[in-house]
Amino acid sequence: MNVLILGKDGQVGKALAPLFPKAKILGRSELDLASPGSIKAVLQKLKPDIIINAAAYTAVDAAESDADLAFSVNEHAVQVLAEYAAANDSWLIHFSTDYVFSGDKPSAYSEEDDTAPTGIYGHSKLAGEQAIQRLCTRYYIFRTSWVFAEEGANFVNTMLRLARERDELGVVSDQVGCPTYAGDIAQIVSRVTTRLVQAAEHNIPAGIYHLSGNGALSWHDFAEEIFQCAHASGLITRIPKLKAISTAEYPTAAQRPANSVLDTTKLEQALDTSLPHWSGGLQKLLAASQGANRR
Ligand SMILES: NC(=O)c1ccc[n+]([C@@H]2O[C@H](COP(=O)([O-])OP(=O)(O)OC[C@H]3O[C@@H](n4cnc5c(N)ncnc54)[C@H](OP(=O)(O)O)[C@@H]3O)[C@@H](O)[C@H]2O)c1
Repeated sequence: MNVLILGKDGQVGKALAPLFPKAKILGRSELDLASPGSIKAVLQKLKPDIIINAAAYTAVDAAESDADLAFSVNEHAVQVLAEYAAANDSWLIHFSTDYVFSGDKPSAYSEEDDTAPTGIYGHSKLAGEQAIQRLCTRYYIFRTSWVFAEEGANFVNTMLRLARERDELGVVSDQVGCPTYAGDIAQIVSRVTTRLVQAAEHNIPAGIYHLSGNGALSWHDFAEEIFQCAHASGLITRIPKLKAISTAEYPTAAQRPANSVLDTTKLEQALDTSLPHWSGGLQKLLAASQGANRR
């Protein structure tokens, strides 16, 4: 089967690459998703049986003043991928986000819960989901949250940098979610695609699935865990004083959901396994950082 991965230089794209050694993997320089017109020609040339779209406009705050580009990449480009998948009996594996929800629910969000994004990024990602559902039948949409990886401007790397720069910092304690290691996302996608190349009865049913790390906590508590583990492993020499602050004390252009916790039961039942806890991914990231420091 021909596998095409989009998002070569992103957190999830980089994690997918080693698990799909035969796949064609494209970054922005090879295929700009902001020009949906060029996507069709690339698809027709490469003829993928499985498209894994890990590319997205992910700048949540910038999207508030850049809606055209956010919708171009997160909706219109996805629409072209879905049209190709439908016309060629290909599978489309796509990623979406906890930001499709308002965050007002007091418990974890299931796939059945009503969506109600509060910002442009969330609206554009929801529009991408809806395009896929409208246009093709062979798809998996994995909604994930709070993604971190060895490389990338993610929360873990930001905290490790700030720990070296500052004696004290404030981190939001009234937003709760599930950190998700990109390597764990890639492993799950690999398992799902392995089933696709087997007989059809092994496939998990097409649809939307929540795919996040096991374990929910606030950004503040996640920062505390990061500092404790990084200190224990010798990656930082001292732990900065951590202050719990409210969302109101840390204003951002886009509003974030207070509750980002995703219920992953549907995916766990489909794969007959529990999803990995985020702490395993954190340890892998810290070990990689130590290795990089030694070199
Ligand atoms: N990061 C999170 O916390 C998070 C949370 C929930 C859901 N998600 C979803 O998970 C998926 C993967 O996210 P991620 O964390 O891997 O994101 P990421 O690290 O920001 O990577 C996104 C990739 O998309 C590429 N891209 C952006 N605009 C493009 C364009 N016009 N043409 C081609 N490529 C373009 C970027 O290219 P450049 O490298 O050239 O910029 C980047 O490599 C996305 O669908 C995202 O919405 C992420």
